[in-house]
Amino acid sequence: MTVSTTLSQTALLVELEPVVARNLDRHLTLAKEWFPHEYVPWSEGRTFDGPLGGEAWSPTDSTIPDVARTALIVNLLTEDNLPSYHHEIATLFGRDGAWGTWVHRWTAEEGRHGVAIRDYLTVTRAVDPVALERARMTHMSEGYTNAHGDEVLHSLAYVSFQELATRISHRNTGKATGDPACEALLARVAADENLHMVFYRNLLAAAFELAPSQAMRAVADVVADFQMPGNGIDGFARKSVAIALAGIYDLRQHRDDVLQPVLRQWDVFNVTGLNADGEAAREQLATQLENLERAASRFEEKRDARAARLALR
Ligand SMILES: [Fe+2]
Ligand SMILES: [Fe+2]
Repeated sequence: MTVSTTLSQTALLVELEPVVARNLDRHLTLAKEWFPHEYVPWSEGRTFDGPLGGEAWSPTDSTIPDVARTALIVNLLTEDNLPSYHHEIATLFGRDGAWGTWVHRWTAEEGRHGVAIRDYLTVTRAVDPVALERARMTHMSEGYTNAHGDEVLHSLAYVSFQELATRISHRNTGKATGDPACEALLARVAADENLHMVFYRNLLAAAFELAPSQAMRAVADVVADFQMPGNGIDGFARKSVAIALAGIYDLRQHRDDVLQPVLRQWDVFNVTGLNADGEAAREQLATQLENLERAASRFEEKRDARAARLALR
């Protein structure tokens, strides 16, 4: 195959299927079975008001810091939109063969995340259950649409970064709660997200061998307009600023801990056999990383200055 060949979406799916099969086997070997109920402190639970006549939720029911509550809500609502994600990847990857097996297995694993986090939040009364349910209804009613829905390689690039971003966000949210039980739960969820990231990253690595220019174009486009999957959540901009100020997920982590390690694995700056568009995409990627470096530094300076001001009060 010459490097100038452009593979159709169907050809990409067919060519990558053996790689999916190999990585599915690898995933099933490495994935550890776990049980959400073991991570929830059920004995701390109390009946709520409503039909059962218990006690209404109050903000003083939990000592978890506000920003950790915000991050938990964002992370849970993100997990909650799974039916939309399933729709997007089932439509794109198909439900047959190794692709289909992966789509269903991934969906089942992700389903566990929402179940576990919701059980924890409800039992520990960490967040307002009425506000949470209303937010879930609003968020899921909006649905989720993949920004690059009909492009296989763009979607693989997106999920490679997104799974790692989710891993970091869960891990740091767990730490921010100051609750060892929540930290253990979110570390367990984060371990799943890491395996998901590796699966997708390996697929795109194979795509770089198969169609280097198309893969480079996909990566550059995705890095240029990357949005977290929960960006449709009501008040997401305000919430994500609070999350960034707390160091749970910020631009520095996005650039240095999400984009860079994945790009390094693909060795993007040493890929050979690129056509003109592939080279242009790589240049755009380099520029985007420089822009992100400046933006991350600016944000850190502002955050430091803000912390210093607050310390003086
Ligand atoms: Fe998840
Ligand atoms: Fe995941």
